[in-house]
Amino acid sequence: AKGYAVVAAVCTHLGCIVKPTGKGFDCPCHGSRFAPDGAVVKGPAPAALPWLKITATGGSYVVDEGATVKKGTRVVV
Ligand code: FES
Repeated sequence: AKGYAVVAAVCTHLGCIVKPTGKGFDCPCHGSRFAPDGAVVKGPAPAALPWLKITATGGSYVVDEGATVKKGTRVVV
């Protein structure tokens, strides 16, 4: 797919910061795993990582951590 998207790095279980693994994200706290698109691969996380709203402004991107968007939403410059 074209464009950029940002997936929140906060685990939906108890809020630990997940780590990128190259094949998705792992949570160091209780072992949840997420796919690159944020989908849960392994629990205990109850829900996918949310996609965050990003805005392109003059060659750079601004991530709005307070706003989530539908999975698959991308910003193309
Ligand atoms: Fe991530 Fe528990 S906070 S698995």
